[in-house]
Amino acid sequence: MSHVIYVLNGPNLNLLGTRQPEVYGYETLADVESMMVDKAQELGLTIEFFQSNHEGAIVDKIHEAREKAAGIIINPAAYTHTSVAILDALNAFDAPVVEVHLSNVHKRESFRHHSYVSLRADGVIAGLGTRGYVAALDYLAHRLG
Ligand code: DQA
Repeated sequence: MSHVIYVLNGPNLNLLGTRQPEVYGYETLADVESMMVDKAQELGLTIEFFQSNHEGAIVDKIHEAREKAAGIIINPAAYTHTSVAILDALNAFDAPVVEVHLSNVHKRESFRHHSYVSLRADGVIAGLGTRGYVAALDYLAHRLG
């Protein structure tokens, strides 16, 4: 059976494509999902794609991943900079975690420079737009052999 990778997206990412396109680009979250599905197929992985605007729903999904996923790719969006709850949930997950940001958060406001999730992530990708998700999947395929 192929490994399942959970791809988790935080608040406002449902608006991708129309939300500040000068920062986040014109591709939608559905475009990202379809790109990920294609790449996963190529790599022999399966993805479970999820977005929520609610912190607790993301925590619940990470708990579910403990039983079901071989890795997590997460763009926690604004919760990156605020959520100890998401960090704690990821600390209870025992497989690789890659944190992805569409924008280069280090080039932006100083409050975006700190990430709670980075304290747990095995790797962080920022500023590569939607390609960052694909790069994360590529890395996990390599890591999982
Ligand atoms: C983001 C960066 C965050 O600072 C921001 O709150 C987001 C998106 C990114 O993908 O660049 O919503 O995670």
